[in-house]
Amino acid sequence: MQQVQALPPQFFQTLKIQTILGQGHDSKVLLAIENKENENKQYALKCQAQKIQDTAINLFNEIQILIHIKHPHIIELLGYSQDFTCLVLQYCPNGTLVQLIKSSPLPVNIAASLLYQVTQALNYMHEQGFTHGDLKLSNILIDSQYNIKLCDFGFARWNGKMPIEKQTVAGSEGYTAPEIWTLNPNYIKSDMFSVAVIFFILITGHPPFESNNPDNQDPWWNLIKNNQWETYWKDIRSNIDQECKNLFVQMFSIQPDQRLSANQLNQWFKLKQTTQENLIQVIKKRLADM
Ligand SMILES: Nc1ncnc2c1ncn2[C@@H]1O[C@H](COP(=O)(O)OP(=O)(O)O)[C@@H](O)[C@H]1O
Ligand SMILES: [Mg+2]
Repeated sequence: MQQVQALPPQFFQTLKIQTILGQGHDSKVLLAIENKENENKQYALKCQAQKIQDTAINLFNEIQILIHIKHPHIIELLGYSQDFTCLVLQYCPNGTLVQLIKSSPLPVNIAASLLYQVTQALNYMHEQGFTHGDLKLSNILIDSQYNIKLCDFGFARWNGKMPIEKQTVAGSEGYTAPEIWTLNPNYIKSDMFSVAVIFFILITGHPPFESNNPDNQDPWWNLIKNNQWETYWKDIRSNIDQECKNLFVQMFSIQPDQRLSANQLNQWFKLKQTTQENLIQVIKKRLADM
């Protein structure tokens, strides 16, 4: 594998910034163009948004993790600044899964095709002891060939540890597994909980619950937690087939070991997925209609 390297300041000076692709609390993602030998090369630069210690830690974490993982469904790190505050990433021009469900939820076979790719990347990561820690729609990109790429590895871990450990609870509310709030999280199975949340949102257009933070007492999460599924399905009123309902009951279990692994869920999605041609056609149409 080719070593990913720190790039000299001269490299960054030659880039032309085109637009802002995303702006979070911690970082700014910019589209940059390099004019080299009359060929325009595009990159996504993920840079520190504010000069505070915690944001620098996130970017340092992300670099350390991405240096070690390479997969067709994981964003490629091409280089980074010498002070570790800017990542040079492969640019994905077709947005994230957020844009795909702007107009309406997706049919199960389309969602399954997308998550078939996500679970391939996760299986590869989990087998090597890496976990993502912040899986959600906005951290799943669509590349120029309409392939899925996981991004945003600021909360990723290797064997349960971050290169520099932070004090905050990791992840995004509404996506993280209940054990994340305890002292003994199971990071691999927490990723799988987040995949189930993503699947639920893709096929219904709304989240399964607002929060499982014990301080919030979310009524939807209370029904799930207390295994009151019949009331839950009646109250949410979304049309979900029985097979998917059974999957959600298993995947939203508060017992991490009851949730399927990335490999098992990958097999499940494989059986449900549509053809590559149909997937691309649906993505193109949805992006064009936006
Ligand atoms: N490689 C990329 N190509 C295109 N857009 C990207 C890329 N990386 C990030 N983005 C956009 O920027 C947003 C924020 O990036 P992300 O890595 O998730 O940072 P944050 O930690 O701020 O959430 C993403 O949701 C996506 O819209
Ligand atoms: Mg993000």
